[in-house]
Amino acid sequence: MQTLLELARDASALAAGEPTALPAALARGDAATPEAEAARQMQICNACRYCEGFCAVFPAMTRRLEFPAADIHYLANLCHNCGACLHACQYAPPHEFAVAIPQALARVRARTYQAHAWPAPLGALYQRAGLTVALALAGGLGLFLALALALRGSLWHAPLAGNFYAVFPHDLLAAMFGAVFLFAALALGMGARRFWRGVAPQEAVPGALARAAHDALTLRYLDGGHGDGCNNEDDRFSPWRRRFHHATFYGFLLCFAATSVATLYHYALGWEAPYAWTSLPVLLGTAGGLGLLAGPAGLLWLNLRRHPLQGDVAQRPMDRGFIALLGLASATGLALLAGRDGAAMGLLLALHLGVVMALFLTLPYGKFAHAVYRVAALLKFNIEKRLPNRLALGSD
Ligand code: HEM
Ligand code: SF4
Ligand code: SF4
Repeated sequence: MQTLLELARDASALAAGEPTALPAALARGDAATPEAEAARQMQICNACRYCEGFCAVFPAMTRRLEFPAADIHYLANLCHNCGACLHACQYAPPHEFAVAIPQALARVRARTYQAHAWPAPLGALYQRAGLTVALALAGGLGLFLALALALRGSLWHAPLAGNFYAVFPHDLLAAMFGAVFLFAALALGMGARRFWRGVAPQEAVPGALARAAHDALTLRYLDGGHGDGCNNEDDRFSPWRRRFHHATFYGFLLCFAATSVATLYHYALGWEAPYAWTSLPVLLGTAGGLGLLAGPAGLLWLNLRRHPLQGDVAQRPMDRGFIALLGLASATGLALLAGRDGAAMGLLLALHLGVVMALFLTLPYGKFAHAVYRVAALLKFNIEKRLPNRLALGSD
């Protein structure tokens, strides 16, 4: 194990551009696993510490001298992939130290989702996330198109004045989506529980959950610590990734709120759909749908231009599949709203329900997992940072 004194010596040698006492193995990028590779790079960062003020990862790193797999999984999910430390790093490729923290931590994030998946065998779906999304989409669309044909005999019909339940009975939809949603919530909850068991701090700190929620809801660490936004294709900073993510995230929440209010209307108040254009479910759904259309479109545009060292190119099918499902769910939902009084309502409804079913089915086995693990990592960080850092240079 490297001592604190050795780390401090390495840090001043690195700063002065002198040869350091870093073990030779640290200077190469040939570690056996993504966790070992991320740990190698963290050891270099821990000696350098140039990026200490950038985000939560570096203060969390300075609390450690060694980086076992559980800690690397924690740090990987704390990273917001803003890219700042790649463009600031004097040891980034082609330097022999080959430090590319955003890429190394992105690779570990995918392993976190897989390692903690529930039920465990389904963790393999992350490795084929593009195929998983494609199959779920084909299955969801096929299921609802076939159901519409079986129940009504045709996808075209005389206008039904927006009465969706004349095509698919309400109880059938409630049972199908309720079951898939509960399963997704259970699977994600079990994954988070497993992750938390591996990284949980011993102490509880009051207020940490509220601070973690604030950090997540504002995407506090998506700006490299300077407030100008994050890097995407090069060393320029841009606020657009955060803005598009907010449109996506809050759009998703508004759509969820629209469905929840409609469920309340149905069961608690006995008010049945279709609801008026000015009703709360329609207003929430329209606002959310627009956000969920603009946000994923922007995220896809940025994703297509992203610097390859800022992420793991192998995960692009997972990222883009999720973005595509979100955008399609919104596009088909808005099209359904616009055409709900016409003869194509049954077809539009089947398309929308098929996409939403695919989205729900893949929630626990795709990119959505990042939300759960990042919030857990932010919670740990907000607990940890209130505790004394026994490794702080110059402290006891
Ligand atoms: C509240 C917890 C959440 C946090 C802290 C969070 C944070 C982040 C961060 C930091 C990124 C960029 C790095 C990466 O690609 O992993 C990201 C990407 C993304 N997030 Fe979230 N997110 C949350 C929830 C959500 C939700 C609920 C959705 C949508 C329903 C969403 C949609 C996306 C999408 C589509 C991307 C991919 C962008 C790309 O590939 O360029 N996020 N999220
Ligand atoms: S990313 Fe590079 S510059 Fe930043 S702390 Fe690590 S080694 Fe130093
Ligand atoms: S990519 Fe951004 S969030 Fe991740 S470690 Fe580097 S500076 Fe921190």
